[in-house]
Amino acid sequence: MLAVRAIHIKSEEEIEGVRQASLLAARTLKMAGALVKPGVSTEEINRAVHEFTHDHGAISAPLNYGADPDRGVPPFPKSVCTSVNDVICHGIPSKSDVLKEGDIVNIDVTPRLNGFHGDTSRTFLVGEVAPEVQKLVEVTLTCLLRGIEVVRPNARIREIGVAIQKVAEPFGYGVVREYVGHGIGRRFHEEPQIPHYPGKENRRLLPGMIFTIEPMINLGSHETKLDPVDGWTVRTADGSLSAQFEHTILVTETGHDVLTDWKYIEG
Ligand code: MF3
Ligand code: CO
Ligand code: CO
Repeated sequence: MLAVRAIHIKSEEEIEGVRQASLLAARTLKMAGALVKPGVSTEEINRAVHEFTHDHGAISAPLNYGADPDRGVPPFPKSVCTSVNDVICHGIPSKSDVLKEGDIVNIDVTPRLNGFHGDTSRTFLVGEVAPEVQKLVEVTLTCLLRGIEVVRPNARIREIGVAIQKVAEPFGYGVVREYVGHGIGRRFHEEPQIPHYPGKENRRLLPGMIFTIEPMINLGSHETKLDPVDGWTVRTADGSLSAQFEHTILVTETGHDVLTDWKYIEG
């Protein structure tokens, strides 16, 4: 049974595959973020992501992902996750979900290119937002960046969550526990799980591992509730706002490489 939990060390060829998918993910997210403004529906963002992905020879991995008939979970019905305000993650784009001034929206894209995945998200501000909301979004980005700084050979996976918790705690924010970062490659989600709080994962990182870090930080309690009707939308239990940022990270011989970093697509 040990093999079930094994963390795959990627070959050079696999690393190159995830790198190319991650570059496309970064480009897609930048394109989608530029659409964010009051009056735009999340379905318009979905359409744009779907077309951009296909125009670049890739497939949107979220579309039809994750069906679990035994638990009554339907496949995810859209090409991107759009999570507005109190939605933590896995928000389903809809024509009736129209962005308005003061909202925040996380856009989470995952193209599959030549059989490899790249996964990245950001929370965007819709026009001007309240100062405490802007603070939440800024601190959530800091959580991701501090988590990434931990990544190097021999670091323990649990140190990532320790670093993130340390950033969020002084603000009284809740760090979501039920949803975690994940290994990624030929599969969308694989070992290891990457908790964003101090968890029990004592295994060490090795060069050639690729995974996401994607902290979800709530203005209130860390608790979540799953929408019983659509089976996907995850909201804060107390209705408070939630922000998230996600990158796909390669462990290198000396540290890490943020494969979905926008620095690789600028200039
Ligand atoms: N992109 C999400 C993640 O970061 C997963 C979305 S699964 C979907 O892991 F089915 F909702 F698309
Ligand atoms: Co992810
Ligand atoms: Co994602």
